Amino acid sequence: MADVPVNSKIALTGGLDFWHLHPVPEADLPSIMVTDGPHGLRKQETSASDHVGLGASEPATCFPPAVGLASTWNRELVGEVGVALGEEAKALGVGVVLGPGMNIKRDPRCGRNFEYFSEDPYVTGELACAFVDGVQSQDVGTSPKHFAANNQETDRMRRDSQVDLRTLREIYLDAFRKVVTRTQPWTVMCSYNKLNGVQVSENRWLLTDVLKDEWGFEGLVVSDWGAVWDRTRALKAGLDLEMPANPQHEAAAVAAYEAGELDEATIDEAYRRVSRIVRMAADGAADAPESFDVDAHHALGRRAAEHAIVLLSNDGVLPLAQDADVVVIGEFARTPRYQGAGSSRVNPTRLDNALDRLNEIAGRDLPFAPGFSTHPRKPAPDGAHDEAVELARQGGTVLLFLGLGEAHESEGYDRDDINLPAEQLALLDDILAVNSDVVVVLSNGSSVLVPFADKVRAVVEGWLLGQAGGPALADVLHGLVNPSGKLTETIPVRLEDVPSYVNFPGDATGVRYGEGLFVGYRGYDAAGRDVAFPFGHGLSYTTFEHSDVTATASGNDVTVSVTVTNTGDREGREVVQVYVSKPESAVVRVPRELKGFADVTLAPGESETVTIDVPADELAYWSVLDEAWVVEGGEYRIAVGASSRDLRGEASVTIEGDAPFRPLGLSSTMGEAMANPAFAEMASTLLGGSPFAADDESLGVDAARMMADFPLAGLAGFTGRSTDELQSLLDQVNAKSGA
Ligand code: GLC
Repeated sequence: MADVPVNSKIALTGGLDFWHLHPVPEADLPSIMVTDGPHGLRKQETSASDHVGLGASEPATCFPPAVGLASTWNRELVGEVGVALGEEAKALGVGVVLGPGMNIKRDPRCGRNFEYFSEDPYVTGELACAFVDGVQSQDVGTSPKHFAANNQETDRMRRDSQVDLRTLREIYLDAFRKVVTRTQPWTVMCSYNKLNGVQVSENRWLLTDVLKDEWGFEGLVVSDWGAVWDRTRALKAGLDLEMPANPQHEAAAVAAYEAGELDEATIDEAYRRVSRIVRMAADGAADAPESFDVDAHHALGRRAAEHAIVLLSNDGVLPLAQDADVVVIGEFARTPRYQGAGSSRVNPTRLDNALDRLNEIAGRDLPFAPGFSTHPRKPAPDGAHDEAVELARQGGTVLLFLGLGEAHESEGYDRDDINLPAEQLALLDDILAVNSDVVVVLSNGSSVLVPFADKVRAVVEGWLLGQAGGPALADVLHGLVNPSGKLTETIPVRLEDVPSYVNFPGDATGVRYGEGLFVGYRGYDAAGRDVAFPFGHGLSYTTFEHSDVTATASGNDVTVSVTVTNTGDREGREVVQVYVSKPESAVVRVPRELKGFADVTLAPGESETVTIDVPADELAYWSVLDEAWVVEGGEYRIAVGASSRDLRGEASVTIEGDAPFRPLGLSSTMGEAMANPAFAEMASTLLGGSPFAADDESLGVDAARMMADFPLAGLAGFTGRSTDELQSLLDQVNAKSGA
């Protein structure tokens, strides 16, 4: 890189403007554009740029945000959306799409949950990989974000996420690990927050030791917009591109270089990574089309929405007959809530609503009343409430469209609670008082409490479905589409039941991830807590049976097989889920965790045997002691289910594991030592005459259990053996055990 002046190289580690990178004439590198977002392109004119979705942007297809896309549990479909997004980016001259958003939904109050996939890292990783592969198949880059542990909006640019290392690895980093190691995203976006005391943009352990060295990330690390506090420190930590560029930072980096405080090797590495991506984007743009197929992408958005809708409950009222006597209440039926606010906000090529499609299906204009305002600061028109109640009183089935307005949840702030707006709940109560034949249809970006679920005939969770979601909802209500969506986040009975409740959103001293591994269903299950609707739940208009569950091991890899039968009277799609648990373990374990899923579409009466692989690395836990992934030997329970709490069959399998040999030492405990056959053999001579050798009868207590946690170093005082003698005995044991 000798032919590029060092100042030009430093300049390339910062943006040219809000959305563009610098050209580098000396290296024949053009300027490229990067822009949002995860569920549709937000391309702005540079003069009107912002990173919170307030300014205008060019029309693009608004696909279902991640909350909806994830509810499809459909890798292929998510991949298709990625391809379409890549096509649109290419047509609009964008080299990198700033998505997917893939932070774990630690707490339903996070204002940005609509933009993320799940409370579970497995489903997040699987679907994020499909998305990235889809976009990048079009020679357009992606930017999995926000790396890492950015799980709230409150004080997001400073708050210190305090996460124990095992939880960090297994819950908050693992989906990123999969995306990086499986798809090589062109960029990764580092987050605003601190992580365990260090600003992420300056966190060398995260950006270099883990991301680049351990995972082999070859792309560039771009900052979130405004996440860099000091570019020199950030470059040293492994950040490669500050967006947007802060001119003072660039000047300071040049000064640091000239003062010998920033070495050229660091600058060259960042320049190499950035220039490589610029070249890939430039090459990818070579055959860029002038436009994209608006109608085909809209149709894809609708298909994705159809698969995203989750039927939570249904007493049989659904599907509706075409000529059903229904009235429609709720502004969301006419003015859909179809995406979230903030940097992901798309200017859709078109926007359909449910009401028009319901009228089309019915062949008439159905009675409609808005009922309430969808904006927290704009009251409903006078009489809207009573008008809606009066309409409901007239009888027929009430299709009641409720949800969260755009201002209720957003990038940049969290929710204080997870209730539906009070005026909507009041309307629901007054409607139920005059008519119990009610179907609730929800539009929301993250879980809301549904205390009314057992008072209404059905609840349809529509999440946020993008520009074509309205008709998809109408088609599901009428059974023109058989719903197959499944929850990727738990719907709790109470906010106080959420495992992170007491530790969200923290305070100026930081946010403690005190629930550790027990986030989402992992926590509810461990506490035996009731939930309104569990992770993985979603009904169909048909029914399925799961039988003949088997699990076989080949080495440490497990293969699960299950036969699924459509026992109903219409075709349907089922997402089969595999949950793994380890009854006996040397480490803390959650009750069960998702480690595989597959979907199958079956005609009435049809059966299919589904095989799901659970590779060894899915069984591994992060050993903080060994600083490595470890597959524990022993028995694993494999449960197959229609949700995390509707387990339909179980099998067990035993594997060797690959736990690293840990030699016994003086700090090992009696329990650990006695588990080692070579030690157990010699224990009686070693312990003879000491209280450790007493048998239980004479002591009347479980001596072995009492002593299990006793460190061997303490034996010296009880056995008359010196510490050196003990150590040499342990050396013999270790030698025998293959240390
Ligand atoms: C925003 C978001 C990020 C987005 C970026 C550019 O603040 O956190 O997701 O890609 O800035 O708009």
